[in-house]
Amino acid sequence: MNKTLLSFLVALVVAFPLCRLQAQTRDVDHQVDSVLQLMTLDEKVGQMNQYNGNWDATGPITETGDIQDQIRKGMVGSMLNVTGVEHTTELQKIAMQSRLKIPLLFGQDIIHGYRTTFPIPLAEAASWNMTAIEQSARIAATEAAAAGVHWTFAPMVDIARDPRWGRVMEGAGEDPFLGSRVAEARVRGFQGNGLGHTDAVMACAKHFAAYGAAIGGRDYNSVDMSLNTLWNIYLPPFRAAEQAGVATFMNSFNTLNGIPATGNAYLQTDVLKGRWKFTGFIVSDWNSVGEMIPHGYARDGYDASVKAANAGNDMDMESRSYILNLARAVRDGQVPVTRVDDAVRRILKKKFEMGLFDDPFRYSSRVREQQQWNRADHLAAERSMAEKSIVLLKNEHQLLPLSRDQLKGHTIALIGPFMKGIRDNLGFWSYTWPDDSSRIISPYEGIRRMAGPDVNVLYARGCNVDDSSLAGFGEALDAARKADIVIMDVGEAPDWSGEAKSRSNLHLPGMQEQLVRAISETGKPLIVMISAGRPLIFNWIADHVPAILYTWWLGTEAGDAMADVLFGKYNPSGKLPMTFPRSEGQIPIYYNHLNTGRPPKNDSDLNYVSSYIDLPNSPRYPFGFGLSYTTFSYSTISLSSDAIGPGDTLRARVTLTNTGSFDGTETVQLYIRDLVASIVQPVRVLRGFRQLLLKAGQQEIVTFSLTAADLGFYNDRLEYASEPGAFQLFIGNSSEDARQASFRLRP
Ligand code: NOJ
Repeated sequence: MNKTLLSFLVALVVAFPLCRLQAQTRDVDHQVDSVLQLMTLDEKVGQMNQYNGNWDATGPITETGDIQDQIRKGMVGSMLNVTGVEHTTELQKIAMQSRLKIPLLFGQDIIHGYRTTFPIPLAEAASWNMTAIEQSARIAATEAAAAGVHWTFAPMVDIARDPRWGRVMEGAGEDPFLGSRVAEARVRGFQGNGLGHTDAVMACAKHFAAYGAAIGGRDYNSVDMSLNTLWNIYLPPFRAAEQAGVATFMNSFNTLNGIPATGNAYLQTDVLKGRWKFTGFIVSDWNSVGEMIPHGYARDGYDASVKAANAGNDMDMESRSYILNLARAVRDGQVPVTRVDDAVRRILKKKFEMGLFDDPFRYSSRVREQQQWNRADHLAAERSMAEKSIVLLKNEHQLLPLSRDQLKGHTIALIGPFMKGIRDNLGFWSYTWPDDSSRIISPYEGIRRMAGPDVNVLYARGCNVDDSSLAGFGEALDAARKADIVIMDVGEAPDWSGEAKSRSNLHLPGMQEQLVRAISETGKPLIVMISAGRPLIFNWIADHVPAILYTWWLGTEAGDAMADVLFGKYNPSGKLPMTFPRSEGQIPIYYNHLNTGRPPKNDSDLNYVSSYIDLPNSPRYPFGFGLSYTTFSYSTISLSSDAIGPGDTLRARVTLTNTGSFDGTETVQLYIRDLVASIVQPVRVLRGFRQLLLKAGQQEIVTFSLTAADLGFYNDRLEYASEPGAFQLFIGNSSEDARQASFRLRP
């Protein structure tokens, strides 16, 4: 092609933005092809190359050459961790100096909010409120998109059965059904009314796949798993995200049964792009292409790029294996050019869908960026999400909620290392903005404001998060003795959960449990809030402290949200999305386990059954558990039939009554058990839930509809099938406490 013709074509496709209307109706694939045919092999590989910006590195940065110069040469398709109108505009301008002017994609880990920080994802999952979760992602997208971010590396949809793994904070917990609903809600929230709207960002389902099953809960560790577990437990949330239209997938650091996920053709090509027909693109995790070398799967960067590309990995995040090797590998015949074309098509397609060829700067808007930040409605949504995420674990003698009226003239002591924390509640994966600290208030401040001027509030830190000093005990005990009621905020450090934050000891660190014991010995009514990014172990507190709230990391409005719950302005409704162990020795522990051939009758049954001789099998708190200030009673279950055929619908009903004296929200959970199957089935699996707000005394009938499809599982041929036979059905307020009924599925 001569130079003039080339420049003409380039000008046609790129320089003159297509009229919006035409762009909507014209076939994107055709547009993609028209760009692709102009590209050199090096430019194609450039689109598959992603570099990190200047900050927030979560892995080693390979320094080779000036990034800006490479962008100018068309050697970069995407940047991560470049955010804000100023930075994104600056780099996009450089991309516009490249020969084909293909816009850059800016990606960022917007995990639980951008400017407005929402509760950590595990906490949000505890709300079981899909509308609120979707809204949280929507707000994050709106704020991020206005600042020039096109793409979030979220949602993380990894099932997590091991609380030692620090990244449990980033997902929706242990259950495939809940995890799938949360995955869909987050994808809907991030992508809003669709790619191309300037308030939407591309979502990314990660980490594909089975990253959450890292052996020993140690981050980045290998995974060894049956296909049965992969398909029935770990893949469903990915499938749900894909069906919700997620734009991209990220593969993972782990090996799966001996093959790194990044070089895994079964996962990426056969399952995701083949069986599921995923049309978006796959980005590697940070340097995961290069990490196939230490894994022992690739000899060098060349070999790694061949294996990753051929397995279906489209974009290389930060390892530089593609940019340094892939073109040569194509020339050597090691990677078919059709594979590279396929990857580039997928990437360009998203750039077209995002409208970046129309206007590469359309997301970077100074006006929108300003409008979106510090919005009162976003902060109000955050506060509400934070309230919904709190789980009430114990409330003896209805110690909670506190009454402002009854506390008038009395004294509260606020004690603990997190009580005056300002940024603690933002948790891992949160960003620092210049004026943030001024608008975040501590739990102390939230409670003090809520208590009002007529309540005397004392404060003592008591101890640090993690050292052996008892120096603050005296002051804390003094405060407790002077008080009529004591509220403590204890937990693990905010950066002890998150990426590369695996822990072997999940007990409260330092002297915190001793501090709680000492305060408890004063005999004062005691409420303990536990702040953490994972299930912790706190048996003494669970046994002896009358009121316990699990408050995770709740985000920007944590202080107010905690106060709202403590004082009953919000009646807690959270339910645990993960099983809480009694001891690290029980891990992995999850409700949907198999029965074994020797199931114990109860926790004390040790007679040659599947149990520990030194520890009960039962968890400290089961999946789905969470109390309210009110009480709910469940009627017996009534079924529309005791048998259904493949085309029928079974209706299961219970009457839920609010039997207490507060209005409250209950999450009614439905579990099933397939009693005899070609692959043994878990003792319970969640298959539905409904959330209802009932006024005190109010009653409502809750109906679940189940078809044969809701009763199925992936069989040994990895086909989804429902097998005829006997089923149990449970409806109740957690995975343990539930009414029961039986029915049959006819052939
Ligand atoms: C590594 C993490 O595993 C991944 O989740 C994240 O998106 C990337 N780093 C980029 O920060």
